[in-house]
Amino acid sequence: MMDLQFTRHRRLRQTANMRALVRETFLRKEDLIYPIFVVEGENVRNEVSSMPGVFQLSIDQLKGEMDEVVSLGIKAVILFGVPKEKDATGTGAYHEHGIVQEGTRFIKEHYPEILVIADTCLCEYTDHGHCGVVDHGDVLNDPSLKLLAQTAVSQAKAGADIIAPSNMMDGFVAAIRAGLDEAGFEHIPIMSYAVKYASSFYGPFRDAADSTPQFGDRKTYQMDPANRREALREAQSDMEEGADFLIVKPALSYLDIIRDVRNQFNAPIVAYNVSGEYSMVKAAAINGWIDEEKLVMEKLTSMKRAGADLIITYHAKDAARWIEKSL
Ligand code: PBG
Repeated sequence: MMDLQFTRHRRLRQTANMRALVRETFLRKEDLIYPIFVVEGENVRNEVSSMPGVFQLSIDQLKGEMDEVVSLGIKAVILFGVPKEKDATGTGAYHEHGIVQEGTRFIKEHYPEILVIADTCLCEYTDHGHCGVVDHGDVLNDPSLKLLAQTAVSQAKAGADIIAPSNMMDGFVAAIRAGLDEAGFEHIPIMSYAVKYASSFYGPFRDAADSTPQFGDRKTYQMDPANRREALREAQSDMEEGADFLIVKPALSYLDIIRDVRNQFNAPIVAYNVSGEYSMVKAAAINGWIDEEKLVMEKLTSMKRAGADLIITYHAKDAARWIEKSL
């Protein structure tokens, strides 16, 4: 025993205070962005069957939700819209009184200090469920840009603090930046879904937002999960076009990508902990197979450790409670 040479890592793990002293990564309430699905209609509070604890809410139901969000110390929400009517060009996305625009007005009127991030996409508003306009089965790039810029401007007019385009058309950051600037919104930042994979982890979201593509899939615009260098090309072009934040999505299976993007770019990096990642944990928790609190805190911390500054997560309210408890 006496001549063994080895390192005693356990010296720094002996007690809770010692472990706290050497902890490298912290999850803060300020890191959390809470997604809200706003639905047209009145008195709607529909729990999404594949996402226990997540609701489609009509505007009259937003007060209860926002009071809770504020009391928990969450500072930012991201809004998704679920309209009653859909059409080929997603008119509801850029309508002055569209559901996200109205939801934004409500929140900014009653909770002016809360940051409202508007998701900018067409898929919830198009009858075919694709993120751009479609011609003979093709999702057209350039004609979609005009509508996306129009959507962003109408969201900014309604009071959105940040525009978050998730559509994955080429040039969407350039088009939206130009549109915002021209309309006098040069101060509104763009949180770009720069690196968005064509992922099966979005399944439950498409229930929540009713945005499943009615034909084909999103592989001609969202990225191949097998690709890593392509993520850097996407992030680079978005930075050049004027993105202020870079989102990597999904998060859990893409921690390597979060780290790559963090190493290469100095913009704030946002991990999107997507619906399927939430539902898997919820299903296991409901069955008593895992300790939900510990597991969620571990996975959110791992996203920050990978390099994310912020996390969009359906666990935000619970996480804020657990953070408070641990202080
Ligand atoms: C819209 C959009 C999607 C998500 C966010 N914005 C769905 C998709 O691309 O199909 C997914 C979010 C989640 O799964 O939580 N384009």
